[in-house]
This record gives sequence, C-alpha cells and structure tokens, in this order.
Amino acid sequence: MITIALPKGRLFKKTDELLRRCGYNLTLGERQLVAEEQNNELRAILVKNVDLPTYVHHGIAGLGVCGSDVIYESGYEFYELLTLPFGSTQICLAGPREDTARPEDAAMLRVATKFTRFTRDAFHQRGIPVNVIRLNGSVELAPVLGLAPYIVDLVETGSTLKAHDLEVKETLGETTVQLIANPAFYKYHFEVVQRFVQRLRDALEMEHRVG
Ligand code: PRP
Repeated sequence: MITIALPKGRLFKKTDELLRRCGYNLTLGERQLVAEEQNNELRAILVKNVDLPTYVHHGIAGLGVCGSDVIYESGYEFYELLTLPFGSTQICLAGPREDTARPEDAAMLRVATKFTRFTRDAFHQRGIPVNVIRLNGSVELAPVLGLAPYIVDLVETGSTLKAHDLEVKETLGETTVQLIANPAFYKYHFEVVQRFVQRLRDALEMEHRVG
C-alpha cells in the first residue's frame, strides 16, 4: 500500500478528483485526517501544506502532493515525479500602488513574506541586500500597517493585493504543484510507484484529449 500525503485546503479537492479518475476512491470521515480506499492500494494522510515535506522527508508518507514553493522552503530533497496541471501560481514582489520608487534601488529592501528562503535567495542572487521578515499568513497587512513596505507572496487573481491598495512590482517566479517521492521509498518501491504515476499520467492525458 502506498501512503500519500495530501495538503488540506484548496489543493485537496483537485487532487482527490484526479485520484478518483484513476480509480482511487478515498473515503474520509468527518474531521478524519487519514483516508483509505476500498482496494487497500492507497492510504492518504491529510496534513497542513507547510508540514507536508516533513512527513515525506521522514518517510511517514512515501509520496506527497505539494507546491514547489513549499518544497523549496522546506530545504528537503525529493524526487519530483510529475507536475500536476493545477494550482500553479505566480510568486511576486508587491508594494503600495502609489509608490513609484524602484524596489531594487532601496539601500536595504525590507520584505515581509512566508517564503523567506525563496526571497533571500532571489534577491541575493542579484546582489540586492534584503531584510526578510517572516509572517505565516495575511502578509498583505504588512505594508498597510507599516511592518514592511514590500511583500513577496503568491498572486492568483490579484484581488487580495487590490483590496489592500497594493500592486505587483515584479514577478519573481512561478510555482507548480508536484507529485514528490521520498528518495528511499522510491528506490525500494520503484515498480509500485511507477504504476501509480502511470495511472495518473493516463488519467491526465485522457482528460487533456477529452477537454
Ligand atoms: C494566498 C496568498 C495571497 C492570496 C492570493 O493566501 O498568500 O494572500 O492567496 O490570491 P489572489 O491573488 O487570488 O487574491 P491564502 O488564501 O492561502 O491565505 P494566507 O495568505 O493567509 O496564507
């Protein structure tokens, strides 16, 4: 049986739909965080996005579905087996709409973000000094309340930025959703994992052809 870690929240629904199309019908009782399916081929554990790499790194789950942003922040190494065709977003530097200064001209760029590793690396690679302030959510409040003039955050529709009079100053990258494997699990269960990945690939290809 494969144990897969799935993120609670918006990515769960999409992943569950895909697994159902592959014939894995997970049943999850109310408020339950472990789901199994009838054929006992797959067991899913539902965890908070940010904790998902920890479960896969320690081998509690052999596989996981996780955003590339969260994988990068974790610092752990995984095998990335498949890019899923949903949940991709832009990761951007944003600041007040009325501010016309170029962020990179600041003597020290002050940025609030959940993505501290990504932000440090992105600006240090360009030789831009950056002071990163870690927040765990509602990052858009930082410029509004004066904690930091800039944020680095995911932007999907842009409506959260707009609601706080902020705008994208620069797109720093794109995040994707990855099917990841614990490297040791992958090596020891190579065939089972390959079969699982192939089922996902076939379902995605079928959907692509029909859609
Ligand atoms: C994410 C992200 C932005 C928002 C972007 O937040 O951190 O705040 O969505 O979406 P939009 O461009 O469509 O408005 P999330 O809902 O995960 O909450 P959080 O920031 O409190 O973690």
